[in-house]
Amino acid sequence: MRYPDNVVQDIISLNDIADVVASYVQLAPRSGNLFGLCPFHKEKTPSFSVSPQKQIFYCFGCSAGGHVLSFIMKIENLDFISALKMLADRVRYRLPEQNETQEVKESRKLRETIAGLNKHAARFYHDYLFSGTADAKYALRYLEKRGVELPLIKRFGVGLWPPGWDGLIKHLSDTSEELLATAGLATQNRKDTTKYYDRFRARLMFPIIDTRNRVVGFGGRIMDDNSKEAKYLNTPETALFHKSNNLYGLNLARKTYSKELIIVEGYMDVLAMHKGGFTNAVAVLGTALNDAHTRLLKNAGCESVVLMLDGDNAGVRATLRAIPVLSKAGIKVKTLDLSKGEKKAKDPDDFLSLYGAAPLKALLSDSKSHVAFQVGLLKDNYNLSTTEGRVGFTEEAAKLLASLPSAIETDAYVADISKEVDISASAIFTEIKKQQGEKPAVMYSTPKRSIRSKKEERGVQKAKETLLYIVLTYPAAANALNKSSYIGKEEIGEGLHFNLLEFAFKCAAEKRTLSPTDVITAFDSNEREVAEIFIDQPDYHGKDAIQKVLNETAFILKRAWALNQMETIENDAKTVQILGFAARNMPTLCI
Ligand code: CTP
Ligand code: MN
Repeated sequence: MRYPDNVVQDIISLNDIADVVASYVQLAPRSGNLFGLCPFHKEKTPSFSVSPQKQIFYCFGCSAGGHVLSFIMKIENLDFISALKMLADRVRYRLPEQNETQEVKESRKLRETIAGLNKHAARFYHDYLFSGTADAKYALRYLEKRGVELPLIKRFGVGLWPPGWDGLIKHLSDTSEELLATAGLATQNRKDTTKYYDRFRARLMFPIIDTRNRVVGFGGRIMDDNSKEAKYLNTPETALFHKSNNLYGLNLARKTYSKELIIVEGYMDVLAMHKGGFTNAVAVLGTALNDAHTRLLKNAGCESVVLMLDGDNAGVRATLRAIPVLSKAGIKVKTLDLSKGEKKAKDPDDFLSLYGAAPLKALLSDSKSHVAFQVGLLKDNYNLSTTEGRVGFTEEAAKLLASLPSAIETDAYVADISKEVDISASAIFTEIKKQQGEKPAVMYSTPKRSIRSKKEERGVQKAKETLLYIVLTYPAAANALNKSSYIGKEEIGEGLHFNLLEFAFKCAAEKRTLSPTDVITAFDSNEREVAEIFIDQPDYHGKDAIQKVLNETAFILKRAWALNQMETIENDAKTVQILGFAARNMPTLCI
């Protein structure tokens, strides 16, 4: 389902951000913007700001930011479509009828129906757990023994599937058994296809709730570990449930607004983590981590992940497979191997019951980039008592370390490895440099190194943001910059900044005028960064003022770039002269 861009724009512009935010946060004017206590993190002095002119918000404390739609998604914990509907309702905007095909409509209806049935079922199992029958008492004792107490049972809606063959079928007797089977709640008898029975029996039920707060399926655990039946039985794939496209606990974890989430393996681990205060833990549902998972994580605002999978071989393999999947999606990865301690914890649940929450917290704050984990595994492949083994290991380790972004971290690992294999740190560094040299050379370097003081560095950063702001919001400035050969796009910025610049040029060429909220909509996965660039920018009135800022900021960036080039590249006399000229002379860009 997708609404046209102009509908989204209409709804954003009809809902004044200051009005909307004011019903959640008390705001007061300060230096041109409105300020209040941030609803997304704990604070005592207001750093949450709203710009009524630009119709955006940004928190200087936790860097949450975006437009009114992002605000509603975040504060109401809604997905894009639901937030859009809420804002449309608020201003009585009639969303256009979706011209769905019959097929699409039916499958949507079916998903809604299944979600409704699941909700009834979840309530039924949950109530049954407190029914006072002998088996319910047994289940409660089992949970208690495993440290799962009442608040946790309530928070996760844990239930119990009653014994017998048709408890749920009877409970939902006005729903056809066939539909219950489609929902994954009942099973058709293989021999007599007119007969159905409950899919799960006498199992603890963990409802799986997605980020739209729908009960999409269940995990059912047996309570007798000696039973021959599978320990867990999950909902089969249905129109609503896909086990490889869900993360258990994400509905709760995303409400912590934590940029770092912890990934564990099992339902019980998530519960134990919550009990220990780690409410940002989620679990994969018995599948390998895949791209659908990383999309879910990113949508929840997750920027880094701690992999805390089981300590057995399968867990190690799963960790190794998950690292590139997460890295590829731009999510930072750390790993924590809990099995290393004396008591050899099997998984986070086990660790927490053996040691408690405080040691885990300490380990987490010390958890290292995944490289350490990989280096550790590498060691097992070499015999370090032979020279050959030590050299082989060190070379391979250097390859891994070459990819580390932090020099401090690299330094620490090199020191460790050097001690371990008795090879000098400088030799290892030389090997790392060699590895790094083999990567494609960086073509353009943004001004970093030659900017000597922090203050200068901030000045350049500010200039870049101002330049981006004016080219994005004043098409004439974008055209002037685009046409001129004074400064190349690459000299202005890389990554998001480069993309913003290209976007500005493209829209200006198409004579499209952009508002800050349009830019946020177009770059919705970077809404925080865009809001940060925009929030403190003043309004520039008149051509002269804009032209002045354009020239000043372009000059600051060109100068920083030229100085940087002079320092980092071996230049001939001619180049030095050109760079020197660029570093001294203001451009004359005309709009
Ligand atoms: N799993 C599954 N089917 C199984 C076994 C496991 O779907 N037969 C999935 C479940 O999602 C489970 C996860 O794999 O939560 C991890 O398995 P395990 O570590 O065995 O489960 P825990 O949740 O840790 O349960 P417990 O601590 O009770 O053993
Ligand atoms: Mn486990």
